[in-house]
Amino acid sequence: MKALCFGSLNIDYVYDVPHILRPGETLASTNRTIYPGGKGLNQSIALAKAGIRTFHAGSIGEEGELLLEMLQESGVDTRFVRMVEGLSGHTVIQRETSGQNNIILYGGSNQAITEEQIEETLRYFSSGDYLLLQNEINLIPSIITKAAEIGMIIVLNPSPIDQKLLAYPLELVDIFILNEIEAMDIVGSELPPKELLRTLSSKFPEAKIVLTLGEEGALHLDREDGKILEHGIFDVDVVDTTAAGDTFTGYFIATLAKTNDPQEALRVASLAAALVVSRPGAAPSIPAEEEVFSINLHLKE
Ligand code: RIB
Repeated sequence: MKALCFGSLNIDYVYDVPHILRPGETLASTNRTIYPGGKGLNQSIALAKAGIRTFHAGSIGEEGELLLEMLQESGVDTRFVRMVEGLSGHTVIQRETSGQNNIILYGGSNQAITEEQIEETLRYFSSGDYLLLQNEINLIPSIITKAAEIGMIIVLNPSPIDQKLLAYPLELVDIFILNEIEAMDIVGSELPPKELLRTLSSKFPEAKIVLTLGEEGALHLDREDGKILEHGIFDVDVVDTTAAGDTFTGYFIATLAKTNDPQEALRVASLAAALVVSRPGAAPSIPAEEEVFSINLHLKE
């Protein structure tokens, strides 16, 4: 089994600010750091660090070399990453003292995926291989449809959610990993977490669903047995929440693929996400498997 993450690669320009800007406000930042990031790149790195043979597909533009290097240093196969003309995808991130952030995204080369690239890439994969997708590149409907024809296990993290995503062939997705806002947008109503999970599951009865709830942890529902599994978050000092969701996603899928045990996958993913929020940056903060398994953390009360 191998995993392909077809997704974004971003240069993250992170500005430390005393608080996240209010409309019309001008505020001096106290520091600026440049990190490799992008939901796709982060999730590829989490998968690879969790011990899965991982390939990344996507596009980089000008100044994107550091993104390629970061993937390679983390053990990700980059043969399907293309260099295109124009700017690489990038972000402007405000990181406030509490560790919370907000992100402005510039698509750049992430929006330059071609049908030919999709076909060339997918030719290398077969039934039972995992495909991990987020919502920061173009042509996602085509990737989903072609991967389903091959019989790949399609995992979608519908982030950041937008109106276009609602028209994607979501019925072909095997595993959703999403937060409450994304789930509410997809079902079209505001519901408490467990009801939301069950409603989403009746809309996509073939899919396994992981609903992440921030401070409240995460829930998992597989319609086959109808049981809701739960897991809390581990208690750490929060420094930077960037890439927490991506790390959770990568580690959840890697652990599920290895153990077929969703409860264990929730536990390992929560540990990895806790480690990420306890240090700065996106991709560079993603822990290796040995660290996740050796850390001793307690669940937050
Ligand atoms: O999920 C975090 C990521 O979202 C950042 O690395 C940024 O690039 C955006 O894609």
